[in-house]
Amino acid sequence: MLVKIFLDSRPSSDKKLKYPHRRITATMFDMAKVLKSIDQLPPLPEVSQKILQLVNDPESSASDIVTVVRHDQSITANVLRLCNSAYFGFKCRIDSLVEAIVLIGQNQLAELVMISSCIHLFRNEHKGYNMKKGELWRHAIACALLSQSILKKMGSAPDHGLYTAALLHDIGKVILDNHMKDNYQQVIGRIREANVPFHAAEQETLGIDHAEVGAQIMEAWNLPDNIVRGIRMHHRPEARPGSKDFSSIIHLCDLLSLHKGIGRDFHETDAVTLKTFLETAQLSEEFVDSCTQELGEEMEKAAAFIGLV
Ligand SMILES: [Fe+2]
Ligand SMILES: [Fe+2]
Repeated sequence: MLVKIFLDSRPSSDKKLKYPHRRITATMFDMAKVLKSIDQLPPLPEVSQKILQLVNDPESSASDIVTVVRHDQSITANVLRLCNSAYFGFKCRIDSLVEAIVLIGQNQLAELVMISSCIHLFRNEHKGYNMKKGELWRHAIACALLSQSILKKMGSAPDHGLYTAALLHDIGKVILDNHMKDNYQQVIGRIREANVPFHAAEQETLGIDHAEVGAQIMEAWNLPDNIVRGIRMHHRPEARPGSKDFSSIIHLCDLLSLHKGIGRDFHETDAVTLKTFLETAQLSEEFVDSCTQELGEEMEKAAAFIGLV
């Protein structure tokens, strides 16, 4: 598998203007080990890759989706378990994928397939990022749910690609976790001392950040370009929410869920980034309040999703 190395893929103007104190210490860090870890990560099950193609294919039907999913028994079992959870609140029991797709529709079935496919990647504790077991998964679910409620508020249709990108946006942390264990305090020190965002301190300390590692995993899995780009740019989005670019919505989902205490610690620099983003995107406080309130309610309903880990 061919994996590219990006020590810093930010444009040079960004480097000069945004983080004047940055310093690369990549020599202290074994990049080869990171790249090897990407290679060794278990692949995304074939089912989810096929589902991604099917939901984007106007010619595909519900029965095509059911045919693909039922080939994987463990994913099917998880999907049915989630369909029968309080999140959907159906009174009758759902025993088959055919019933499930009729009741929840293709898009939501595809989301449940994606959740069931990648849960194994989030099982461990992520000590390197100071996160207890399950916290990275809770953050992933929060961002995935938020991404669709933000789309809805903006009057856009649900987007399975965005859901997938939001769910997997921090997958790079799974790989970098081991490498962060000895560097976490240095990263936190840089945030405080130089007032830089978390990903920038991570990049300065390790020579690469989790967004770049995540994008390389997506490339290795052959996921669509908009997912790769959305993950690569989720801490430095170029577009405004509402555009076809996924990075800005993921960026917002990330900051709002961190602000709500879901994920890693919320730093002072995150508060500044959130404030700046909301001003630039011209998003009102009411918009943000309604997103975070809904998130709290959705997370309570989604206990079964979170409990999968
Ligand atoms: Fe991130
Ligand atoms: Fe995140």
